[in-house]
Amino acid sequence: MILVTGGAGFIGANFVLDWLRQSDEAVLNVDKLTYAGNLGTLRSLADDSKHVFTRVDICDGEALRALFAKHQPRAVVHFAAESHVDRSIHGPAEFVQTNVVGTFTLLEAARNYWAGLDQAGKDAFRFLHVSTDEVFGSLSAEDPQFSETTPYAPNSPYSATKAGSDHLVRAYHHTYGLPTLTTNCSNNYGPYQFPEKLIPLMIANALAGKPLPVYGDGQNVRDWLYVGDHCSAIREVLARGKPGETYNIGGWNEKKNLDVVHTLCDLLDAARPKADGSYRDQITYVKDRPGHDRRYAIDASKLERELGWKPAETFETGLAKTVRWYLDHAQWVEEVQSGEYRNWVELNYAGRA
Ligand code: NAD
Ligand code: TYD
Repeated sequence: MILVTGGAGFIGANFVLDWLRQSDEAVLNVDKLTYAGNLGTLRSLADDSKHVFTRVDICDGEALRALFAKHQPRAVVHFAAESHVDRSIHGPAEFVQTNVVGTFTLLEAARNYWAGLDQAGKDAFRFLHVSTDEVFGSLSAEDPQFSETTPYAPNSPYSATKAGSDHLVRAYHHTYGLPTLTTNCSNNYGPYQFPEKLIPLMIANALAGKPLPVYGDGQNVRDWLYVGDHCSAIREVLARGKPGETYNIGGWNEKKNLDVVHTLCDLLDAARPKADGSYRDQITYVKDRPGHDRRYAIDASKLERELGWKPAETFETGLAKTVRWYLDHAQWVEEVQSGEYRNWVELNYAGRA
């Protein structure tokens, strides 16, 4: 089986659902179930004996050691993290804990287990670390895209802690020979994304008749990748990536935030027209995020060249699917908008008007 951490979160859950649709290999899903973890996303797996869920914090080394000993996974795919930049600005401690200490603890448990395998088991084992393009810092409009050799220059507590975890993974390969793989991916969107991130937040607010809060001038640029394409890239890297290597994953889809919000409004205007006017009328410019990175852009040509991977979705097809999914899954959105979510909205947006 494979051990997946963070498999109740947005990308991890999409990965687990896709994996079990395509493979007979079981998944041990290790997740602490923070505000971002949601078992409702995995409801369709309730009767699937190939999915084993366990509520464990990746900072708990003893629990991890017991899981490795019991389940003998052939690979780890590590998604678990605190993942939201704005939350990292309000409360960085949790990010250091999970992203740095948690990844270290997981690496130690994996290394101990791996050291006890026979040579064939050692050679076949993989530790795939899922990271972000944000570790490379911010680009100007003229800069070339991030490549695998771009120097690290993280600017937020989130990206700094992800960078720290990437360095630990690198060191565990270099020093101990652990067969690691690291992927650095651009912004994901798609089904089951928690409505604190740009795209699902804008959809939820639009439908609720609330303001659409665009930070600063709305001209910041992100590269967007449909989550199913991120999952297919991870499967490729896991199957055929070279231990010790890093791979950039991106959608060749640079967009300004305001353009993303306009496109979302247009899709919603077509799918669920308002009685009066356009969803664009709800756009509100709010105070910028401190230290807001201006532009991220990914050169994913290594992955295409070496492993033949390319995204299947364009931004247009992926976004249309995503809007449709949120329109059809109002109950999922309602379920995750708990008291904790309302507290977050108050903390992050009250001071920005
Ligand atoms: P998410 O916040 O939706 O989910 C994170 C999951 O990790 C949740 O299920 C949560 O309960 C779990 N978790 C958090 N702390 C834990 C701990 N201490 N122990 C065990 N489980 C814990 O995140 P996501 O958007 O799905 O991102 C997954 C991974 O992909 C992260 O490592 C993130 O850095 C990376 N990534 C995300 C994006 C993106 O656009 N969302 C892009 C590139 C890379
Ligand atoms: P986000 O989804 O938080 O991802 P990241 O910061 O990791 O790229 O934000 C994407 C972009 O959208 C980013 O430039 C910040 C901007 N943004 C807004 O303008 N308003 C919002 O309410 C949010 C959450 C994000």
